[in-house]
Amino acid sequence: MSLWQAGAEHELEITGLNHAGAGVGRIDGRVVFVPDSLPGERVRIRITETKKRYGTGTLLQVLDAAPERIEPTCPHAQFCGGCQFQHLDYEAQLKWKGLSVQDALERIGGLDLSVKPTVGMARPYEYRNNTQHAVGRQAGHMVMGFFRKGSHDIVDVSTCELQHPLATQLALNLKDLVRVLNIEPYDRKGHTGVLRHAVIRVSFAVEELMLVLVTRTPELPNQAELIERLTDEIPQLVSIAHNVNPRPGSTVMGRETKVIWGKPYLVESIGDLRYAISPASFFQVNSKQTKVLYDLVKAKLPLSGKETVLDLYCGAGTIGLYLAADAGRIIGVETAKSAVLDAEKNAELNRITNAEFRLGRAEDELPRLLQEYKEIDAVILDPPRRGCDPSLLAELIAAEIPRIVYVSCNPATLARDLAILTEGGYSPGTVQPVDMFPWTSHVECGVLMSRV
Ligand SMILES: C[S@@+](CC[C@H](N)C(=O)[O-])C[C@H]1O[C@@H](n2cnc3c(N)ncnc32)[C@H](O)[C@@H]1O
Repeated sequence: MSLWQAGAEHELEITGLNHAGAGVGRIDGRVVFVPDSLPGERVRIRITETKKRYGTGTLLQVLDAAPERIEPTCPHAQFCGGCQFQHLDYEAQLKWKGLSVQDALERIGGLDLSVKPTVGMARPYEYRNNTQHAVGRQAGHMVMGFFRKGSHDIVDVSTCELQHPLATQLALNLKDLVRVLNIEPYDRKGHTGVLRHAVIRVSFAVEELMLVLVTRTPELPNQAELIERLTDEIPQLVSIAHNVNPRPGSTVMGRETKVIWGKPYLVESIGDLRYAISPASFFQVNSKQTKVLYDLVKAKLPLSGKETVLDLYCGAGTIGLYLAADAGRIIGVETAKSAVLDAEKNAELNRITNAEFRLGRAEDELPRLLQEYKEIDAVILDPPRRGCDPSLLAELIAAEIPRIVYVSCNPATLARDLAILTEGGYSPGTVQPVDMFPWTSHVECGVLMSRV
C-alpha cells in the first residue's frame, strides 16, 4: 500500500490547528488535517482521504499528549460532529480562538490589529437555545441526533451538554413518539421518507420550548396524535411548527413554515429587552453571551440620543432595539420576512417608537437609505458567514459613514471586509472576540471602524 492513500497508518507530530479546529501535521511534505489532535502531540493516524497536496486522517492513538488535552465528558464526542474541541481545556479554547482571529486578520486581511482576550463563559455548558436534530434511518433503525464528523451519517445521541436540559428531554420523547407513531424517517441517500429534522428552540428567560418539524413531504403523518402526546409529556413545549423542505441537500429548513400548535413565537430576554422569535427567524444561539455581545456593541458605539443608526442584517431587530434608547432613530434591514415582522413586533413589545425595519437586501436598501436620510451617523453590520457584499462596503466608504461596528461570526470574511474598509479610509479599533460557541471552533467578534 502507498503511504499516501486512504487506509495507510502513520505516526506524526501535530504542529498547529487549522481554522476548523483540526490538528495539522505533515507526511512527506504534504499537509494532513487530523480532527481531535492538538499542537505539540505525537499521534498515530489512519489516512481517510487524500488530495494531491493535502489529506485528512482519523486519530487512532495519542502517543504524547498536549498538556491542554482533557478527557471529553460527552459520551458522543468521538463521533459527533457538533463539537470540535471536546478534548481541549476551556481556557485553551479561548486562547486558541483569539489566536485564530489574529491569524485570519493577518493572513487574509493583511491587518495587524490588537485582538483582546476572548470573553468566555463562567459555565460553558447547556448554553444553546437552538439545536437542529437530524432524523434518519440507519441499519434499519430510526436515528436522531447530529451529523457525524465529516459526513451526513447521523450519530444517535442520547444527550448533549451544549443544549438546555429541556431540549434534551424533548428530543428523547420526540424520538420515541416518532417510532411509536411510525413517522417515516428521511433517507438522505435516496431522498425518500418524511421527517428530516427536528429543530428545538428554548427561551432561557421563561423556560419554554418551540419545536419545528421539518419534513420532505407536505404532510406530517399522525400530526394530531404526535402533538397531543408530546405536549402532554412536555408541558414546557408551547409552540410547534411544521416546515416543508422538499429539496435534497443539507440545508435544514425549507421556505414554508406553518405554526401547527400553540404560540406563534418564543419570547427570550436579553438584558432589559424582550424579543419574540418566530420559527424561521435568526436568533443568536447563546442567549447569555448575546448580552455580552450586544453590550460590547453598545460600548463600542456611544450614542447621544440624536444619531440615525442603521442596523444592517438586523434579524429580529435585536441589536438595533438594544441601542434604540440611546439613539435618535434606528433603521433595520433584513432579507427574511419573518424576522422583519418579528423586529416590528419586538419594537412594540419593548415600547420602542424610534425604530423601523425594512425587508430587503442590505446592499440594495443602503443606497436608498443614503438618499432618504442625508445624515447617517453609524452603521452596525452583522452579516451571515459569507460576510458583506462588496457593493455595500463600497457604498459605506463612499458615503463616509463616521462609525461602523462590524459584528462577525466568521473571522475569514471579517478579515476580508475589514481590509476593504481600512483601504477605503477607516481605522480599525481593537477586535473583541466573544465565545458564543464553547467546545466548537466557532468564534464571534466585534470591532469598531472609524472614519479617518
Ligand atoms: C448573523 S444574523 C444577525 C442577526 C441579528 N443582527 C442578531 O444579532 O440576531 C444575519 C442576518 O442577516 C440576514 N441576511 C442575510 N443576507 C442578507 C442581506 N443580503 N441583506 C440583509 N440581511 C441579510 C439573515 O436572514 C440573518 O437574519
